[in-house]
Amino acid sequence: MTQNNNIVLIGFMGVGKGSVAREVVQHSPYIAIDTDDIIESMENRKIKQIFEDEGEAYFRKLEKNIAKWLQHSVQNTLISTGGGFYKQKNIKNIGTIIFLDSPFDAIIKRIKKHPNAEKKLKKRPLLSNLKEAKKLYDERRPEYLKLADIVVDVTDKSAKECSKEILKKVKKHV
Ligand code: S3P
Repeated sequence: MTQNNNIVLIGFMGVGKGSVAREVVQHSPYIAIDTDDIIESMENRKIKQIFEDEGEAYFRKLEKNIAKWLQHSVQNTLISTGGGFYKQKNIKNIGTIIFLDSPFDAIIKRIKKHPNAEKKLKKRPLLSNLKEAKKLYDERRPEYLKLADIVVDVTDKSAKECSKEILKKVKKHV
């Protein structure tokens, strides 16, 4: 099995995958893409709308198509993923997996202190019920850990600090 030389950011909704990715590209030659952005652009509608119109299973099918494309056609890229993308069976073939880790309460605190907090919560259908979201978090965290080649604890760290840590650890890993 050939390992692609992409970096794949995984982790729970709101943990800061997008912000960290934007910081990494400022300090490295990586080009960054985001699986949710690709889906929204292909479908010409927001994730929230896709969930409402078609349901979650349809969204996961789109993620599956993207996972195949990433494995076979993408190199040297920093790939930021939606919180459920880890379920894709070929994810380990896409690149080095970096899990951005943080406790559930810290993630929610992080979202709530954002100036656009309301929007950030609204656009994520699976965060609309915090009790359910915590259950999802507890189910997923062990799975994220199992898949990860590298774990970065992002709690109370700036995107810049996380980005530095990622680039250092990736260098050591390859
Ligand atoms: C999801 C996370 C979202 C988005 C969709 C489903 C999930 O991405 O892909 O709402 O299953 O955790 P973020 O992790 O960027 O919020």
